[in-house]
Amino acid sequence: MNSISISRRKFAQLLSAGAACAVVKPALSLAKSAPEVKSQPASPLTRIVRLSSNENPYGPSPHALKAMTDSFNVACRYPDEAAALLSEKLATLNSVNANQILLGDGSGEILKLCADTFTGAQRKLVAGDPTFEAILQHATVNGAEVVKVPLTDNFAHDLSKMGAVANAGLVYICNPNNPTASFTPKNELTDFISKTSPQTIILVDEAYFHYADNPDYDSVIPLVKDYPNLIVRSHQSWDSVNIMAVAAATASLSDPDQVTNGRRLNQETRTFVTTQLDAMDYKYIPSQANFVMIDVKRPVLPLIKALKERNVEVGRLFPALPTHMRLTIGKKAEMEAFLSAFHQVLA
Ligand SMILES: Cc1ncc(COP(=O)(O)O)c(C=O)c1O
Repeated sequence: MNSISISRRKFAQLLSAGAACAVVKPALSLAKSAPEVKSQPASPLTRIVRLSSNENPYGPSPHALKAMTDSFNVACRYPDEAAALLSEKLATLNSVNANQILLGDGSGEILKLCADTFTGAQRKLVAGDPTFEAILQHATVNGAEVVKVPLTDNFAHDLSKMGAVANAGLVYICNPNNPTASFTPKNELTDFISKTSPQTIILVDEAYFHYADNPDYDSVIPLVKDYPNLIVRSHQSWDSVNIMAVAAATASLSDPDQVTNGRRLNQETRTFVTTQLDAMDYKYIPSQANFVMIDVKRPVLPLIKALKERNVEVGRLFPALPTHMRLTIGKKAEMEAFLSAFHQVLA
């Protein structure tokens, strides 16, 4: 796992920043002998411009880097106490109980747990189309029927159609949605949750929550208090999150700048790219995330290949939108490299 993927994972997983913290209990902390770590910007990948996986290009919080380095000496320990502390901090931050927090080895693990627990031969999965595919694959492996419901014309989840076929299965709502970076308004989601039978489990994946700035978008975390079918906690793997990751996550919560800076830089760079796309007369779906879905007006696969030959990696094909290209918002220089290669492959 490289530092960039750790950073993106934690950024997506953590729900907000701001809590003061102690990383690990003093009995476990051997930090005195650890070297002082200066924050380093994420090292640029030498040749490849990687705009394919919605990673955070700005790297982890310096607090997280230091916490990880300080905890090298306790990497042999199970994470129990540190994980419990982190759960408590996240619970306080989100006004829920600590037993409603499930830590995972990235949110990918949580998606798998949900598919394992709530889908099967008798329990289908209902998801938007297109959406983030991971849980669809896990549900299929589990023997579940997967029902894909096309997004609305505005690229929101079609909640009434999803509700009509849910039938006590698991409904997956990615909001903002990957790959479209579009969102489903909070009032529509709240209405849907309140009308859904308690036998149907609703999983709202808010991996890109921090980037969303539309006033109609909001997290549904406050609703877990009222709707038990919105809570997910079952079949947790033991100790899947290692102690250094817990240390890094806990430290990130005490960094007031990590989320605000990441959000601001993303917005600035996203505006830079979309302004260039406007000038080139390419349409894109309005983005509430750190990626943008561009209508390239032709089958996207040959373009993905041609860009890769120029060392620019963009997102994969999403079959429901075969003429759209998912472009992750990286640093400005990376976006300039993309635009230059994009011009070349279109020429
Ligand atoms: C919507 C969504 N959820 C979850 C994940 C998994 O993220 P991670 O396991 O890195 O936290 C991703 C990764 O791209 C994603 O796009």
